[in-house]
Amino acid sequence: MNLIMFGPPGAGKGTQAVRLQEKYKVKQLSTGDMLRGEVSSGSVLGNRIKEIMEDGELVPDDIIIELIENCIGQPECKKGFILDGFPRTVAQAEALDVMLQKADRGIDHVIVLNVDEGALIQRIEKRAAETGGARADDNAETLKNRLTVYNRQTAPILPYYEGKGLLRQVDGMLPIDEVSARIDDVLDGRAAA
Ligand code: AP5
Repeated sequence: MNLIMFGPPGAGKGTQAVRLQEKYKVKQLSTGDMLRGEVSSGSVLGNRIKEIMEDGELVPDDIIIELIENCIGQPECKKGFILDGFPRTVAQAEALDVMLQKADRGIDHVIVLNVDEGALIQRIEKRAAETGGARADDNAETLKNRLTVYNRQTAPILPYYEGKGLLRQVDGMLPIDEVSARIDDVLDGRAAA
């Protein structure tokens, strides 16, 4: 099972991807977590992307594509993977298709979590308060830019996957357990495409 979790910042992609990883024993690939790991390691790459992430901008496609290409080929992804935060540009989506074609694999579903902007702001502010601001991009100003970037660069991917018949819309405003149940319906084939 190969999935893409799609949605704006704070929609619940990571929360649901962790649950799916546990339930279906497929690997969560969170580009955000990978990049935060690089930043905290103090590597050359980490130093290069720190400011980009703090500003809520996107890290260059070539860096991200290479990260994902390295992961997808690993044995831990053999049973399947959940892409959380990737692809985020049309170029990334196209590169993903090329790498999957080469490996004779494909995407089963693109799960889109729909959440109102007001709720996104509340969720991010709540997380910032709960974690003592652990994520440098979890503040009102940067979130505003993350949302702008999502609408400008990431949402335009949706027609790409719609054309392939892969989009599955899920109400991300529901409580976490309910969202999980709706995703299970999609995976079990109980939800209308
Ligand atoms: P990334 O880490 O991917 O962040 P994001 O997309 O902004 O998403 P979040 O992690 O904030 O939210 P989420 O949708 O995962 O929600 P979550 O489950 O955490 O990316 C960070 C940065 O890295 C980017 O800005 C960019 O710079 C860079 N980057 C990453 N990928 C890239 C790429 N492919 N290309 C280029 N650059 C890239 O939930 C949020 C909160 O809400 C939590 O507190 C949670 O408990 C709560 N919550 C979740 N679901 C619910 C619910 N149903 N009801 C109530 N609360 C809920």
